[in-house]
Amino acid sequence: MAAPHPRLEIQHLTRRFEGKTVVDDVSLSIQPGHVTCLLGPSGCGKSTTLRMIAGVDMQDSGNIYVDGNLVCDTVFRIPPERRSIGLMFQDFALFPHLTVERNVAFGLNGTRSENRARVEQLLDRVGLLHFIDAYPHELSGGEQQRVALARALAPKPRVMLMDEPFSGLDNRLRDGIRDETLALLKEEGTSVLLVTHEPEEAMRMADEIALMREGRIVQRGAPYNIYNAPADKAAVAFFSDINVITGTVQGALTETPFGQFLAPGVPDGARVDIVFRPQHVSIDFDRQGRGPNPTAIQGTPARGVVERARFMGSESLVEFRMDHDGQVLRATVPNVFLPKIGTPMWLSVRRDRCFVFPAQDMD
Ligand SMILES: Nc1ncnc2c1ncn2[C@@H]1O[C@H](COP(=O)(O)OP(=O)(O)O)[C@@H](O)[C@H]1O
Ligand SMILES: [Mg+2]
Repeated sequence: MAAPHPRLEIQHLTRRFEGKTVVDDVSLSIQPGHVTCLLGPSGCGKSTTLRMIAGVDMQDSGNIYVDGNLVCDTVFRIPPERRSIGLMFQDFALFPHLTVERNVAFGLNGTRSENRARVEQLLDRVGLLHFIDAYPHELSGGEQQRVALARALAPKPRVMLMDEPFSGLDNRLRDGIRDETLALLKEEGTSVLLVTHEPEEAMRMADEIALMREGRIVQRGAPYNIYNAPADKAAVAFFSDINVITGTVQGALTETPFGQFLAPGVPDGARVDIVFRPQHVSIDFDRQGRGPNPTAIQGTPARGVVERARFMGSESLVEFRMDHDGQVLRATVPNVFLPKIGTPMWLSVRRDRCFVFPAQDMD
Protein backbone atom coordinates (compact mmCIF):
# COMPACT_ATOMS: atom_id res chain seq x y z
CA MET A 1 0.00 0.00 0.00
CA ALA A 2 1.30 3.45 -0.87
CA ALA A 3 2.00 5.73 2.06
CA PRO A 4 -0.92 8.12 2.59
CA HIS A 5 -0.35 11.66 1.44
CA PRO A 6 -0.04 14.42 4.01
CA ARG A 7 -3.26 16.37 4.26
CA LEU A 8 -1.44 19.59 3.36
CA GLU A 9 1.94 19.78 1.75
CA ILE A 10 3.81 22.85 0.61
CA GLN A 11 7.07 22.61 -1.28
CA HIS A 12 9.66 25.34 -1.73
CA LEU A 13 7.25 28.27 -1.44
CA THR A 14 8.88 31.59 -2.15
CA ARG A 15 7.35 35.05 -2.26
CA ARG A 16 9.06 38.35 -3.01
CA PHE A 17 7.73 41.86 -2.60
CA GLU A 18 9.61 44.66 -4.32
CA GLY A 19 12.74 42.56 -4.63
CA LYS A 20 12.71 41.49 -0.97
CA THR A 21 12.27 37.78 -0.30
CA VAL A 22 9.64 37.57 2.39
CA VAL A 23 8.97 33.82 2.24
CA ASP A 24 12.10 31.93 1.33
CA ASP A 25 11.91 28.30 0.19
CA VAL A 26 9.41 27.15 2.82
CA SER A 27 8.41 23.48 2.82
CA LEU A 28 5.98 21.93 5.29
CA SER A 29 3.59 19.02 5.55
CA ILE A 30 0.74 18.37 7.93
CA GLN A 31 -0.71 14.92 8.59
CA PRO A 32 -4.48 14.40 8.86
CA GLY A 33 -5.82 15.56 12.21
CA HIS A 34 -2.60 17.27 13.25
CA VAL A 35 -2.10 20.81 14.45
CA THR A 36 1.05 22.55 13.24
CA CYS A 37 1.95 25.99 14.54
CA LEU A 38 3.94 28.35 12.38
CA LEU A 39 5.70 30.31 15.09
CA GLY A 40 7.92 33.32 14.63
CA PRO A 41 8.38 37.01 15.36
CA SER A 42 6.24 39.63 13.73
CA GLY A 43 7.21 40.30 10.11
CA CYS A 44 8.92 36.93 9.48
CA GLY A 45 6.49 35.92 6.72
CA LYS A 46 3.87 33.80 8.53
CA SER A 47 0.75 35.53 7.19
CA THR A 48 2.17 35.69 3.68
CA THR A 49 2.69 31.91 3.80
CA LEU A 50 -0.88 31.38 4.96
CA ARG A 51 -2.29 33.72 2.32
CA MET A 52 -0.61 31.72 -0.44
CA ILE A 53 -2.03 28.46 0.92
CA ALA A 54 -5.48 30.03 1.17
CA GLY A 55 -5.16 31.23 -2.42
CA VAL A 56 -5.56 34.94 -1.75
CA ASP A 57 -1.94 35.58 -2.70
CA MET A 58 0.21 33.83 -5.29
CA GLN A 59 3.70 32.46 -4.77
CA ASP A 60 6.63 33.31 -7.05
CA SER A 61 7.67 29.68 -6.92
CA GLY A 62 6.71 26.46 -5.17
CA ASN A 63 3.78 24.05 -5.04
CA ILE A 64 0.84 23.44 -2.72
CA TYR A 65 -0.93 20.08 -2.41
CA VAL A 66 -4.00 18.94 -0.49
CA ASP A 67 -4.25 15.15 -0.06
CA GLY A 68 -1.64 14.73 -2.74
CA ASN A 69 -3.54 16.78 -5.32
CA LEU A 70 -1.97 19.91 -6.73
CA VAL A 71 -3.86 22.99 -5.62
CA CYS A 72 -1.52 25.64 -6.90
CA ASP A 73 1.82 26.05 -8.61
CA THR A 74 3.03 29.00 -10.64
CA VAL A 75 0.80 28.16 -13.63
CA PHE A 76 -2.11 26.12 -12.32
CA ARG A 77 -4.36 27.51 -9.61
CA ILE A 78 -7.56 26.27 -7.95
CA PRO A 79 -9.56 29.26 -6.65
CA PRO A 80 -9.70 29.74 -2.86
CA GLU A 81 -13.32 28.63 -2.46
CA ARG A 82 -12.62 25.25 -4.09
CA ARG A 83 -9.57 24.31 -1.99
CA SER A 84 -11.47 22.79 0.96
CA ILE A 85 -9.55 25.13 3.20
CA GLY A 86 -11.21 26.92 6.12
CA LEU A 87 -9.96 30.28 7.29
CA MET A 88 -10.01 31.96 10.65
CA PHE A 89 -8.28 35.28 11.10
CA GLN A 90 -8.38 37.69 13.99
CA ASP A 91 -10.24 40.26 11.92
CA PHE A 92 -12.32 37.74 10.02
CA ALA A 93 -15.59 39.27 11.21
CA LEU A 94 -19.04 37.72 11.14
CA PHE A 95 -21.55 39.20 8.69
CA PRO A 96 -23.33 41.78 10.87
CA HIS A 97 -26.61 41.72 8.93
CA LEU A 98 -26.98 37.92 9.10
CA THR A 99 -28.20 35.85 12.05
CA VAL A 100 -25.87 33.40 13.75
CA GLU A 101 -27.61 30.58 11.86
CA ARG A 102 -27.06 32.22 8.45
CA ASN A 103 -23.47 33.09 9.34
CA VAL A 104 -22.64 29.50 10.21
CA ALA A 105 -24.56 28.15 7.18
CA PHE A 106 -22.78 30.58 4.85
CA GLY A 107 -20.39 28.10 3.20
CA LEU A 108 -22.83 25.16 3.15
CA ASN A 109 -24.46 23.91 -0.03
CA GLY A 110 -26.61 21.03 1.20
CA THR A 111 -30.40 21.02 1.48
CA ARG A 112 -32.01 23.41 3.93
CA SER A 113 -32.59 20.71 6.51
CA GLU A 114 -29.10 19.28 6.13
CA ASN A 115 -27.63 22.74 6.59
CA ARG A 116 -29.85 23.41 9.60
CA ALA A 117 -28.76 20.11 11.19
CA ARG A 118 -25.07 20.91 10.72
CA VAL A 119 -25.49 24.44 12.08
CA GLU A 120 -27.36 23.14 15.14
CA GLN A 121 -24.77 20.45 15.74
CA LEU A 122 -21.90 22.94 15.74
CA LEU A 123 -23.67 25.64 17.73
CA ASP A 124 -24.66 23.05 20.30
CA ARG A 125 -21.05 21.88 20.43
CA VAL A 126 -19.77 25.38 21.14
CA GLY A 127 -22.58 25.98 23.66
CA LEU A 128 -24.36 28.67 21.65
CA LEU A 129 -27.46 26.94 20.29
CA HIS A 130 -29.66 29.42 22.16
CA PHE A 131 -28.13 32.23 20.07
CA ILE A 132 -29.08 30.66 16.75
CA ASP A 133 -31.45 33.52 15.83
CA ALA A 134 -29.35 36.29 17.36
CA TYR A 135 -27.29 38.84 15.44
CA PRO A 136 -23.52 39.16 15.93
CA HIS A 137 -23.74 42.48 17.82
CA GLU A 138 -25.80 40.74 20.52
CA LEU A 139 -22.85 38.42 21.30
CA SER A 140 -19.71 39.01 23.36
CA GLY A 141 -16.27 38.87 21.71
CA GLY A 142 -15.66 35.34 22.92
CA GLU A 143 -19.08 34.20 21.67
CA GLN A 144 -18.48 35.77 18.26
CA GLN A 145 -15.19 33.95 18.13
CA ARG A 146 -16.93 30.62 18.74
CA VAL A 147 -19.48 31.37 16.02
CA ALA A 148 -16.64 32.22 13.64
CA LEU A 149 -15.05 28.87 14.45
CA ALA A 150 -18.38 27.07 13.82
CA ARG A 151 -18.71 28.91 10.51
CA ALA A 152 -15.21 27.95 9.41
CA LEU A 153 -15.74 24.30 10.36
CA ALA A 154 -19.29 23.92 8.99
CA PRO A 155 -18.30 22.83 5.44
CA LYS A 156 -15.86 20.26 6.95
CA PRO A 157 -12.71 21.74 5.44
CA ARG A 158 -9.78 19.37 5.05
CA VAL A 159 -7.46 22.05 6.35
CA MET A 160 -8.01 25.00 8.67
CA LEU A 161 -5.72 28.00 8.43
CA MET A 162 -5.77 30.19 11.52
CA ASP A 163 -3.87 33.46 11.66
CA GLU A 164 -3.41 34.72 15.23
CA PRO A 165 -7.08 33.91 15.83
CA PHE A 166 -6.99 34.54 19.57
CA SER A 167 -5.02 37.75 19.68
CA GLY A 168 -8.12 39.96 19.81
CA LEU A 169 -9.40 38.29 22.99
CA ASP A 170 -8.54 39.42 26.47
CA ASN A 171 -6.21 37.22 28.50
CA ARG A 172 -8.82 35.87 30.85
CA LEU A 173 -10.95 34.47 28.02
CA ARG A 174 -8.14 33.36 25.84
CA ASP A 175 -6.92 30.20 27.54
CA GLY A 176 -10.42 28.76 27.78
CA ILE A 177 -11.28 29.53 24.17
CA ARG A 178 -7.96 28.12 22.96
CA ASP A 179 -8.58 24.85 24.75
CA GLU A 180 -12.19 24.58 23.55
CA THR A 181 -11.13 25.37 20.01
CA LEU A 182 -8.40 22.76 20.07
CA ALA A 183 -10.80 20.12 21.41
CA LEU A 184 -13.32 20.86 18.64
CA LEU A 185 -10.67 20.86 15.90
CA LYS A 186 -9.48 17.47 17.13
CA GLU A 187 -13.03 16.07 17.22
CA GLU A 188 -13.65 17.23 13.68
CA GLY A 189 -10.33 15.69 12.60
CA THR A 190 -9.34 18.83 10.74
CA SER A 191 -5.68 19.46 10.00
CA VAL A 192 -4.68 22.87 11.25
CA LEU A 193 -1.97 25.34 10.37
CA LEU A 194 -2.03 27.96 13.07
CA VAL A 195 0.07 31.09 12.89
CA THR A 196 1.21 32.75 16.10
CA HIS A 197 4.05 34.88 17.42
CA GLU A 198 3.45 33.62 20.97
CA PRO A 199 5.54 30.64 22.09
CA GLU A 200 3.08 29.72 24.86
CA GLU A 201 0.22 29.58 22.40
CA ALA A 202 2.23 27.31 20.12
CA MET A 203 3.25 25.05 23.02
CA ARG A 204 -0.36 24.83 24.13
CA MET A 205 -1.90 24.08 20.74
CA ALA A 206 0.65 22.33 18.54
CA ASP A 207 1.45 18.73 17.74
CA GLU A 208 4.34 20.19 15.80
CA ILE A 209 5.96 23.61 15.77
CA ALA A 210 7.64 25.09 12.70
CA LEU A 211 9.87 27.88 13.89
CA MET A 212 10.15 30.65 11.30
CA ARG A 213 12.64 33.50 11.07
CA GLU A 214 13.25 35.97 8.24
CA GLY A 215 11.19 34.00 5.75
CA ARG A 216 12.71 30.61 6.50
CA ILE A 217 11.77 27.63 8.62
CA VAL A 218 14.70 27.23 10.99
CA GLN A 219 13.45 24.20 12.92
CA ARG A 220 10.50 21.80 13.05
CA GLY A 221 9.52 19.39 15.75
CA ALA A 222 7.27 18.55 18.68
CA PRO A 223 7.09 21.36 21.26
CA TYR A 224 9.21 19.31 23.68
CA ASN A 225 11.97 18.88 21.12
CA ILE A 226 12.02 22.49 19.99
CA TYR A 227 12.23 23.62 23.60
CA ASN A 228 14.82 21.10 24.72
CA ALA A 229 16.90 20.67 21.56
CA PRO A 230 16.83 24.13 19.99
CA ALA A 231 18.62 24.67 16.68
CA ASP A 232 20.46 27.83 17.68
CA LYS A 233 20.76 30.57 20.28
CA ALA A 234 17.88 32.57 18.82
CA ALA A 235 15.64 29.50 19.06
CA VAL A 236 16.40 29.24 22.79
CA ALA A 237 15.86 32.97 23.27
CA PHE A 238 12.51 32.92 21.47
CA PHE A 239 11.01 30.74 24.22
CA SER A 240 12.58 32.24 27.34
CA ASP A 241 15.09 34.55 28.86
CA ILE A 242 18.61 33.20 28.39
CA ASN A 243 22.06 33.39 29.91
CA VAL A 244 25.07 33.19 27.60
CA ILE A 245 28.67 32.57 28.53
CA THR A 246 31.39 32.27 25.94
CA GLY A 247 34.45 30.07 25.81
CA THR A 248 37.26 29.12 23.48
CA VAL A 249 37.55 25.55 22.28
CA GLN A 250 40.64 23.42 22.78
CA GLY A 251 40.49 19.72 21.95
CA ALA A 252 36.67 19.72 21.49
CA LEU A 253 36.28 21.12 25.02
CA THR A 254 35.84 24.53 26.46
CA GLU A 255 36.79 25.53 29.99
CA THR A 256 34.43 27.84 31.88
CA PRO A 257 34.00 28.87 35.51
CA PHE A 258 31.17 26.30 35.55
CA GLY A 259 33.49 23.52 34.44
CA GLN A 260 34.20 21.96 31.06
CA PHE A 261 31.69 21.72 28.24
CA LEU A 262 31.90 19.49 25.19
CA ALA A 263 32.05 21.21 21.84
CA PRO A 264 32.23 18.29 19.41
CA GLY A 265 33.30 19.18 15.89
CA VAL A 266 34.34 22.72 16.78
CA PRO A 267 37.92 23.53 15.72
CA ASP A 268 40.57 24.59 18.22
CA GLY A 269 40.60 28.30 18.89
CA ALA A 270 36.95 28.83 17.83
CA ARG A 271 34.60 30.54 20.25
CA VAL A 272 31.38 28.96 21.45
CA ASP A 273 28.32 30.29 23.25
CA ILE A 274 27.05 28.21 26.14
CA VAL A 275 23.38 29.06 26.48
CA PHE A 276 21.12 28.20 29.41
CA ARG A 277 17.81 29.30 30.83
CA PRO A 278 17.46 31.07 34.21
CA GLN A 279 15.27 28.21 35.51
CA HIS A 280 18.18 25.81 35.11
CA VAL A 281 20.48 27.79 37.36
CA SER A 282 20.45 26.70 40.97
CA ILE A 283 21.83 28.77 43.81
CA ASP A 284 23.48 27.98 47.11
CA PHE A 285 24.48 30.11 50.05
CA ASP A 286 28.12 31.01 50.57
CA ARG A 287 29.78 28.99 53.32
CA GLN A 288 32.91 30.94 54.24
CA GLY A 289 33.85 31.37 50.62
CA ARG A 290 32.98 27.81 49.66
CA GLY A 291 30.12 26.56 47.54
CA PRO A 292 28.62 23.12 47.04
CA ASN A 293 30.83 20.31 45.75
CA PRO A 294 30.87 19.81 41.99
CA THR A 295 28.61 17.03 40.69
CA ALA A 296 28.15 15.38 37.31
CA ILE A 297 24.71 16.96 36.92
CA GLN A 298 25.36 20.42 38.31
CA GLY A 299 28.99 20.83 37.27
CA THR A 300 31.22 23.28 39.10
CA PRO A 301 29.64 26.17 41.00
CA ALA A 302 30.79 29.74 40.40
CA ARG A 303 30.38 32.65 42.79
CA GLY A 304 28.56 35.93 42.26
CA VAL A 305 26.83 38.60 44.31
CA VAL A 306 23.17 39.52 44.16
CA GLU A 307 22.68 42.62 42.08
CA ARG A 308 18.91 42.67 41.87
CA ALA A 309 15.99 40.48 42.95
CA ARG A 310 12.40 40.77 41.81
CA PHE A 311 9.24 38.92 42.76
CA MET A 312 7.39 37.84 39.58
CA GLY A 313 4.34 36.02 41.00
CA SER A 314 4.98 32.29 40.72
CA GLU A 315 8.75 32.77 40.88
CA SER A 316 11.47 35.25 41.74
CA LEU A 317 14.11 36.47 39.30
CA VAL A 318 17.53 37.09 40.79
CA GLU A 319 20.42 38.72 38.96
CA PHE A 320 24.01 38.05 39.98
CA ARG A 321 27.23 39.82 39.09
CA MET A 322 29.78 37.04 38.71
CA ASP A 323 33.10 37.27 40.56
CA HIS A 324 35.15 35.81 37.70
CA ASP A 325 34.31 38.30 34.94
CA GLY A 326 31.71 40.76 36.18
CA GLN A 327 29.07 39.38 33.80
CA VAL A 328 25.44 39.38 34.98
CA LEU A 329 23.65 36.01 35.04
CA ARG A 330 20.02 35.39 35.94
CA ALA A 331 18.39 32.65 37.96
CA THR A 332 14.74 32.02 38.67
CA VAL A 333 13.65 30.52 41.95
CA PRO A 334 10.13 29.22 42.68
CA ASN A 335 7.94 31.35 44.95
CA VAL A 336 9.47 34.17 46.98
CA PHE A 337 13.22 34.47 47.17
CA LEU A 338 14.47 38.01 47.61
CA PRO A 339 18.05 37.98 48.95
CA LYS A 340 19.67 41.30 49.87
CA ILE A 341 21.72 43.10 47.24
CA GLY A 342 25.39 42.27 47.68
CA THR A 343 24.80 38.80 49.17
CA PRO A 344 27.46 36.39 47.85
CA MET A 345 26.03 33.14 46.47
CA TRP A 346 27.09 30.17 44.35
CA LEU A 347 25.49 29.41 41.02
CA SER A 348 25.44 26.01 39.34
CA VAL A 349 23.97 25.13 35.98
CA ARG A 350 22.10 21.96 34.98
CA ARG A 351 24.61 20.64 32.47
CA ASP A 352 22.03 18.66 30.49
CA ARG A 353 20.13 21.92 29.96
CA CYS A 354 23.06 23.83 28.49
CA PHE A 355 23.30 24.28 24.75
CA VAL A 356 26.65 24.83 23.06
CA PHE A 357 26.62 26.72 19.75
CA PRO A 358 29.38 28.24 17.62
CA ALA A 359 29.56 31.88 18.75
CA GLN A 360 27.78 34.41 16.56
CA ASP A 361 29.48 37.75 16.55
CA MET A 362 26.48 39.44 14.99
CA ASP A 363 23.57 39.45 17.46
N1 LIG B 1 1.47 43.00 -0.05
C1 LIG B 1 2.69 43.28 0.43
N2 LIG B 1 3.50 44.19 -0.19
C2 LIG B 1 4.73 44.47 0.28
N3 LIG B 1 5.27 43.92 1.39
C3 LIG B 1 4.51 43.03 2.06
C4 LIG B 1 3.18 42.67 1.62
N4 LIG B 1 2.68 41.74 2.49
C5 LIG B 1 3.64 41.54 3.43
N5 LIG B 1 4.73 42.31 3.17
C6 LIG B 1 5.97 42.34 3.97
O1 LIG B 1 6.41 41.01 4.13
C7 LIG B 1 6.96 40.80 5.43
C8 LIG B 1 6.29 39.64 6.10
O2 LIG B 1 4.95 39.99 6.40
P1 LIG B 1 3.92 38.97 7.07
O3 LIG B 1 3.85 37.73 6.26
O4 LIG B 1 2.65 39.71 7.27
O5 LIG B 1 4.64 38.66 8.45
P2 LIG B 1 4.05 38.02 9.82
O6 LIG B 1 2.67 37.51 9.55
O7 LIG B 1 5.03 36.95 10.17
O8 LIG B 1 4.07 39.12 10.83
C9 LIG B 1 6.83 42.12 6.15
O9 LIG B 1 8.04 42.80 6.05
C10 LIG B 1 5.74 42.84 5.37
O10 LIG B 1 5.90 44.22 5.46
MG1 LIG C 1 0.84 38.11 10.44
